[in-house]
Amino acid sequence: MIVPIDLKKQEDLSYEIFIEDLKDLTYERKVAIVTNPTVAGFHLETVKNKIKASELIVIELPDGEQYKTLDSVNEILNQLLENRFNRKSLLIAFGGGVIGDMTGFAASIFQRGIDFVQIPTTLLSMVDASVGGKTGVNNKYGKNLIGVFHQPKAVHIDINFLKTLPSREFGAGVAELIKMAVMFDRDFFSWLEKNDLKEKENLIYAVKRSVELKAEVVSKDEKEQGIRAVLNYGHTFGHVVENETAYKEYLHGEAVGIGMCMANIVGSKLGLFTKEELKRVENLLKKYDIPTSYQIQNPQKFYEAFFLDKKSTDSKIKFIFPNGIGDFLVRDDVEKETIIKVLENFSKEN
Ligand code: NAD
Ligand code: GLY
Repeated sequence: MIVPIDLKKQEDLSYEIFIEDLKDLTYERKVAIVTNPTVAGFHLETVKNKIKASELIVIELPDGEQYKTLDSVNEILNQLLENRFNRKSLLIAFGGGVIGDMTGFAASIFQRGIDFVQIPTTLLSMVDASVGGKTGVNNKYGKNLIGVFHQPKAVHIDINFLKTLPSREFGAGVAELIKMAVMFDRDFFSWLEKNDLKEKENLIYAVKRSVELKAEVVSKDEKEQGIRAVLNYGHTFGHVVENETAYKEYLHGEAVGIGMCMANIVGSKLGLFTKEELKRVENLLKKYDIPTSYQIQNPQKFYEAFFLDKKSTDSKIKFIFPNGIGDFLVRDDVEKETIIKVLENFSKEN
């Protein structure tokens, strides 16, 4: 006997991303703002004044990637239960990508899933982490290994929060913007070369364009079965750099900047990228003090570390290359020797 369960109907997960001065937000339900002391110190009063809810609580978690753990998520869940939150309640992630990823994950598992909203406060979280519903935590085996896709109900991006962001953190966000331009939009890349993101109007335009590009990708491929993997350009190399330096030397976006330069050089060896294009990407990264070089100690070991990446299968490494500026190519057939040669150059020249 066979008993079918018909689950083909898809829930509508659509949502809007508002890029504007934060407006008044009214919720007729219990709301918890999840944040950390750094962000709260600068901006909690501003955000609290904008939110009306039947009950509003604030959950503060310690600041730092090292606290992106199941323990911190458990702390969110405990505070929700202590305050008798229910299935109608709402979480608001107010912070950078660390807070966003953990809040989204807590929302996805609290009473089998409740709504959450993103109010990102770093450039990286505005252009990348707050959009697309990847949520989760790290554990001792690696970064972001535990998590689910859980889309927010809305994303509210207000670049005024960036006034207090340290400049290195700003640069790390710019690296992700540049990533989007190199992969998807040649004109946007040229625009970035000509304009200064320290100007407010320029920054608003760049955030908008980058979010549009990411939204398009996520709309086509929510669960990274295809094109969404292109957003990992620079990450395959960058993750190894982060790992080798124990996550202490480079911010994630900075490691992605280095990773993009490495991917570009391999791409040029494969005839996908010219020397001039290499230089253009490098110069744009340098304009925002994003590192472009890294001393590889042991190319062989660096290569082996690619296999720890959760996007690699047992025997094949999936690389994302630019195919000229504004286009991409995914390859899993690049000869080990080609990659090793590039890595050896990074160990000599830089
Ligand atoms: P972060 O959240 O650690 O924030 C960086 C630092 O800036 C922190 O110390 C934070 O307290 C501080 N900060 C935040 N807003 C501030 C403000 N307005 N003024 C002053 N200081 C402020 O780091 P991040 O770069 O925002 O995010 C990185 C995390 O995002 C990583 O855990 C990464 O895995 C994740 N991520 C997720 C996705 C996704 O799709 N879900 C995408 C990219 C990155
Ligand atoms: N940061 C990559 C993604 O959202 O898929």
